[in-house]
Amino acid sequence: MALVAVGVSGGISAYKAVEVVRLLQKAGHQVAVVMTRAATRFVGPLTFEAITQRRVITSQWTPGANADIEHIALASEAALLLVAPATANTLAKLAHGFGSDFLTSLALATRAPVLVAPAMNTHMYDHPATQANMATLRARGVRFVEPGEGYLACGWVGKGRLAEPDVIAAEALRIIDPPRLLRGRRVLVTAGPTFEDLDPVRYLGNRSSGRMGIAIAAEAAQLGADVTLVLGPTSLAPPPGVRTVRVRSAHDMHGAVSAARATADAIVMAAAVADYTPAGGAAGDKVKKQDGDLTVTLERTVDILADLGRWREGRARPVLVGFAAETTDVLAHAARKRESKQVDLIVANDVSQAGAGFEVETNIGSFVTAEGVQTFPLETKTALATRIVAFLAERLAATPVATVAP
Ligand code: CTP
Repeated sequence: MALVAVGVSGGISAYKAVEVVRLLQKAGHQVAVVMTRAATRFVGPLTFEAITQRRVITSQWTPGANADIEHIALASEAALLLVAPATANTLAKLAHGFGSDFLTSLALATRAPVLVAPAMNTHMYDHPATQANMATLRARGVRFVEPGEGYLACGWVGKGRLAEPDVIAAEALRIIDPPRLLRGRRVLVTAGPTFEDLDPVRYLGNRSSGRMGIAIAAEAAQLGADVTLVLGPTSLAPPPGVRTVRVRSAHDMHGAVSAARATADAIVMAAAVADYTPAGGAAGDKVKKQDGDLTVTLERTVDILADLGRWREGRARPVLVGFAAETTDVLAHAARKRESKQVDLIVANDVSQAGAGFEVETNIGSFVTAEGVQTFPLETKTALATRIVAFLAERLAATPVATVAP
């Protein structure tokens, strides 16, 4: 049994939070409700108080709110902070670190995972400010339950309706008590770009942010896996609970993967590895400009994934997963890559489509396996990561967990 802090902010769908609280209680958890002032205009605190049997915090200035041990302990005792519904205003405050009411102060004080279910007018949801705030929160590890589309209370039709209470509660329960399907499994994930140095100040790189691989590492860790993340040069932070090996070039990444591959149950190559590097390595000194053009000769790097496929020699373990970022004939290229690199799954994506590929929070993936192709809708990288990790769990389910390192 865990204690869940449920933050309710001021939207018309605040009444749906009552059902979310009931579902969490039904699953055996205790719930402490925190309401913003605006939320109390939509639902009475008494409703939450009656069903949770706890005092509801509606203001940080209420006498007792800070003296009451139960409430002060909330930041440290809560297993999850769930904000449902989250208005555009609350999202903005969370993204910018405001502590202007009890809910936002709690969000700053707690180290518990945070799950947010936004609900607002569709134009407010689509507004670049709201989208940027959500991107900031996502990059910080905050999880989201996407709002639904349809007829909104304000009369508009579009995205912004609070997700259904059972969907929100299910996602909350998955975080509080994740099914540990990968317990005892070792998962190796690569993420990010590689930088191939030309000289001490210049390099050849690519636009990968590492987001996809970081999401996969986080999901695998959530399911109980022992995760090693080989991370190329990116400003994004690795997720908690994961062993991280920082690398720079394709050569470094190959070395780190080769060192860890023997004990891995599954390897996911989500990194965008350079196919070419300056021949003979980086110049020792800065290259000075001269009249006329400069020609740089590049040589092939090792294809790490293909190398893993060859090394595995048709064995079933480790499960190998690669990506194929394409702009034309996506599925045909992906199928060819899967066969030539001898891997179990290629996650193909058309990076020419809006919302897919590099530098965005979302992706449109297709699974290409020996059995066929499965295409998914535009979804967050976390949602796609959940599918990839579920694939690993399914493929590994048939084999016993190793008790001794091979
Ligand atoms: N990959 C790798 N080592 C490389 C290049 C790519 O391990 N030197 C892996 C990537 O991590 C990814 C997969 O191979 O999982 C596909 O990468 P991609 O760049 O899309 O394909 P390439 O094999 O490089 O083919 P092409 O450039 O012809 O599209």
